[in-house]
Amino acid sequence: MKLPELKIGSLTARIPLIQGGMSIRVSTSALAVPVAECGGIGTIGGSGLPVAELQEDIRKAKRETKGIIAVNIMYAMREFYELVMGSIEAGVDMIITGAGFSRDIFKIGAKYNVPIVSIVSSPAFAKLAEKLGAAAIIVEAAEAGGHLGTQTKLRDLFPSIRKVVTKVPLIAAGGITNGYEMAELMDKYGADGIQIASRFVLSKECSVSQKFKETYLKAGQDDIVLVSSPVGMPGRAINTPVVRKMNSGEDVSTKECKYKCLKKCSYRYCISDRLIRACAGDVEEGLVFSGANTFKMKEILPVREIFNRFVKEAESVYRENK
Ligand SMILES: Cc1cc2nc3c(=O)[nH]c(=O)nc-3n(C[C@H](O)[C@H](O)[C@H](O)COP(=O)(O)O)c2cc1C
Repeated sequence: MKLPELKIGSLTARIPLIQGGMSIRVSTSALAVPVAECGGIGTIGGSGLPVAELQEDIRKAKRETKGIIAVNIMYAMREFYELVMGSIEAGVDMIITGAGFSRDIFKIGAKYNVPIVSIVSSPAFAKLAEKLGAAAIIVEAAEAGGHLGTQTKLRDLFPSIRKVVTKVPLIAAGGITNGYEMAELMDKYGADGIQIASRFVLSKECSVSQKFKETYLKAGQDDIVLVSSPVGMPGRAINTPVVRKMNSGEDVSTKECKYKCLKKCSYRYCISDRLIRACAGDVEEGLVFSGANTFKMKEILPVREIFNRFVKEAESVYRENK
């Protein structure tokens, strides 16, 4: 059966699939545009970018597609409001925000008529986000890549949030690798759509270095681990040499704070520096964020092929049994 569209505010995605935002410079317009062209929601990772660079990338994306372009900005960023306002000025269609909770963001969204989508990992924050005016809510579970707000797995967490969110679309995220799982989450768990990220790192269009992608391809299940982040949350990443050092308590801190990216930083190491290094190909000293199920994906595919497979697999089993 055909998958339903995903309506968020006044926007409609033909395919109920959001490409998760990935900082720093993992998901740029190079990835978001083909996703939007395929009928999903393409998300530029905005955290940790200079405002002007983010604006330029949003404008580029909006020139290249009529599809939906979102930006993901973490509340933990020092320049959160500047990045939000800069994105709106550059014409972004939607703002997705997590890693902390801003109440004011909903007022800004209402004022400028830009839907705000909240990423949450608990029923309490889901309820609050809906009450304050979120246009949709993403439930991000323990299998996700990057910063984690919970240790509860998706199929345990999602039902508790499904019960309390009644008015806006609810999206499932974390560890989804194929269309059968997409249909399962929509049919059996009542998700209105899914968000996936790691699958898109292994796309032709994702602009990270080949070494970053190879690290994904080589990872076995036990190579995907937790590491504490200076943001104050655990992060899920591949066990690269620097992660092994971090997890064995070695000092990997930097002498000076070059980026001043976070509102509150533990200064245990420089998260911006480590993410930028990995993206550029230094997978020895860089931090390669990854979802828990990356080890199941062994092919780099064009975005269109990823969509075709997801939709074909999902529609072969989707029955709308909500
Ligand atoms: C490399 C990488 C970077 C990420 N960066 C961010 C980010 O900047 N902000 C955010 O909210 N989520 C971030 N995430 C989480 C994703 O957007 C997504 O919700 C999650 O990874 C979904 O799980 P999956 O990767 O198993 O599909 C990141 C994930 C990865 C793999």
